[in-house]
Amino acid sequence: MKQITQKIISPVVISTALGHDGLGIFPYTLLPGYRRLQAAIRETGTAVLTKSATRFKRRGNFVPLNPMTWGYIRRLPGMGMLNAYGLTNEGVDHCAPEIRAACEAGFRIIPNLYPEFIKGTDIAIRETLEAVEIYRRSLGPYFRALELNYSCPNSEEAIAKNVVQALQCTRKIRSRYPDLFLIAKLSICHPYEFAQELERIGVNALHTVNTIPYSIVFPLQPSPLREAGGGGVSGGPACALAYKFNQELRPRVGLLLIMGCGVTSADDVQRYFDLGADAVSFCTLALRKPREAARIVSRYNRRAQP
Ligand SMILES: Cc1cc2nc3c(=O)[nH]c(=O)nc-3n(C[C@H](O)[C@H](O)[C@H](O)COP(=O)(O)O)c2cc1C
Repeated sequence: MKQITQKIISPVVISTALGHDGLGIFPYTLLPGYRRLQAAIRETGTAVLTKSATRFKRRGNFVPLNPMTWGYIRRLPGMGMLNAYGLTNEGVDHCAPEIRAACEAGFRIIPNLYPEFIKGTDIAIRETLEAVEIYRRSLGPYFRALELNYSCPNSEEAIAKNVVQALQCTRKIRSRYPDLFLIAKLSICHPYEFAQELERIGVNALHTVNTIPYSIVFPLQPSPLREAGGGGVSGGPACALAYKFNQELRPRVGLLLIMGCGVTSADDVQRYFDLGADAVSFCTLALRKPREAARIVSRYNRRAQP
């Protein structure tokens, strides 16, 4: 990795598992293992990709304060998870100052933004540009990178359909913010040509891949969350498919690749590096085995500090 990139992305990055502000998710923050992970992340300067925010407050399926909605996040055998969280968040105006506070507390945070193409392309792009501007003003010198989540909807169709909109949106951000380090987060449902086009229009890195629709991982079984679109599978059960996607993507792009999905051990991290990953991400491992996650972070990121 080039030096400039090392200042933004660490060899191992944490995705989503530290919440919308990068400081941690309640009630995980009550667990000693998770707190150990938070400390390791800060000590090692590990890059944290936040959970997605939208321009405005959005009520998804999972609402932390409502126990009736807790079933939208489940454990799966084999160190997996199934979630149909649905992007519940307070909006960028609320998240940006909290991210700033996390940066000031010594965390290296990269905000993750979800453009709501469901509202129509023009509105989605306008709101996305507003959101970027809010981050720029609120985070000041801490705003060096942004992750664009183009892969969150849990249905294959919705993900595959957003390609043209995502390219338009990326072009606009690129031209308005030429120095911003842009990361696009993709799905296994996206064609490789999408990644290649993102490279052509000047994205700096790809994060591959997000959770995998349940119907792809378990084609013969109805999802327990079918009324919420089926949900996305992460952790162990998603590993083989994610690995194959990354293996086939690597020779097709020269871009910096943050490979992830399905990492449940240090061996999995190493397998992605052996595949040509520039960095490796994980989420489920941090939530399910935070002590192991802390060990991995300390092992890979300590040496990389400037
Ligand atoms: C409960 C849960 C919520 C998630 N929320 C988001 C999100 O808001 N935005 C996003 O880009 N990815 C989200 N993800 C995806 C993770 O960041 C990660 O890309 C995915 O889980 C695959 O990695 P893993 O197998 O290491 O968990 C979420 C994952 C889980 C398990």
